[in-house]
Amino acid sequence: MENSSTSILEKDSLSILRDAVDRLEAGFSSLPPASAAVPDTRPIERVILEVAERLHDNYPYFHPLYAGQMLKPPHPVARLASMLAIWINPNNHGIEGGRASSRMEKEAVSEIAAMFGWKTYLGHLTGGGTMANLEALWVANRLSPAGRIVASEQAHYTHSRISAVLKLEYEAIPCDRRARMELEALKRSLDRGGIGAVVATIGTTATGSIDPLPGLLKLREQYGFRIHADSAYGGYFRLADNLTAETRRAYELLPEVDSIVIDPHKHGLQPYGCGCVLFKDPGVGRFYRHDSPYTYFSSNDLHLGEISLECSRAGAAAVGLWATQRLLPLAKGGEFARGLQSSREAAMELYRKLRADRRFLTAFTPELDIVIWAPRAARVSRASEIARRIFEEAEQRRLYLALADLPVKLFDLQAAHMEPDRHTITCLRSVLMKPEHREWVDAIWSILDQAADAVM
Ligand SMILES: Cc1ncc(COP(=O)(O)O)c(C=O)c1O
Repeated sequence: MENSSTSILEKDSLSILRDAVDRLEAGFSSLPPASAAVPDTRPIERVILEVAERLHDNYPYFHPLYAGQMLKPPHPVARLASMLAIWINPNNHGIEGGRASSRMEKEAVSEIAAMFGWKTYLGHLTGGGTMANLEALWVANRLSPAGRIVASEQAHYTHSRISAVLKLEYEAIPCDRRARMELEALKRSLDRGGIGAVVATIGTTATGSIDPLPGLLKLREQYGFRIHADSAYGGYFRLADNLTAETRRAYELLPEVDSIVIDPHKHGLQPYGCGCVLFKDPGVGRFYRHDSPYTYFSSNDLHLGEISLECSRAGAAAVGLWATQRLLPLAKGGEFARGLQSSREAAMELYRKLRADRRFLTAFTPELDIVIWAPRAARVSRASEIARRIFEEAEQRRLYLALADLPVKLFDLQAAHMEPDRHTITCLRSVLMKPEHREWVDAIWSILDQAADAVM
């Protein structure tokens, strides 16, 4: 029999599902038998095997040599728990649609809120980071209808799009050389008046940079505005013990913001379809108030649909998250936190190797587990071309990296004697978000070394 050390995809946990479906069925044994019969499983099998073939056309997101974008499969416990829930397919809109899974959502969300030090809050899961941020900006606008939304030029593009959808004025604030919001530029914007909410990105998508929260909080005292923290990617790093003192400080101050977004489907080991929004003031629940002619009859308890903009939502997402946090509690020093620390160590190790190599130019020290670098060349346009070719050569050798077009100011081009003939540079980017990456940095480096040699 194949064992887990020789297999590529984890399969050992599959047998648990069979037993768990039996256990689930036992809970409904008072009903007369009525299972939707599958008289012949062969056509299903044929289609499913065809699906397996179709899915070959993917990058191997599950493998440590996939070190490109923010992509990785869920933890086996999340996969199994959500699959188990799909057997009955609860809907967390109303309690009648998913009694157990609504309770599990409330419990799991309260554990996330506790990670940020919040005991009283309003929060729920969403389909993802975009929807969670939309709710946060929508609430900000309800509180300050004339105020514009500002976020750094490195904030996720979702914020400008959401603002357009909600018809809110939006402004991008320039970044410093570490891809963090420039406070002086924000101050100039504040002096013009009319800001309703500032989005602080806690872990930017491109580089994992953390906006300067201590300075933002000081400005809030002076000017009075709402702070929404988009920690869709970086939120869980509040549990990590190996951040720089400056980054640590931002995480310590996170409880001071007004709303937080965190995506369990990024660093929380969940399948896609699991974001989360939290509001510090539970009173904002009034904006969601509505009557439903169809639901909310079965219980006087809070129905999640009463505090979210989405209606139907997968109860399975809540079940997967609950099970994951049961196995791997969101605790400092625990196994889950150690996984994040390994990712960060992996990024630091790759960064050190790149820095020590004359062929590459690194930017600032990574704050989380994302590294960006550029090949050295006489001109930025040439470096960008080489980056693309290294990306392709690496892929030929089964190392999957990412590319990002970033402002040239993130690199010290003068010291590297590189002519800035473009405003942006296409650089290589690696998100080392799997704990296993720590053990694989040498293998990653060795392939990158060969790919760079082949091009340069
Ligand atoms: C910082 C940040 N915010 C928001 C989003 C959007 O989240 P989603 O893709 O889950 O909608 C992302 C996605 O990468 C992100 O990195």
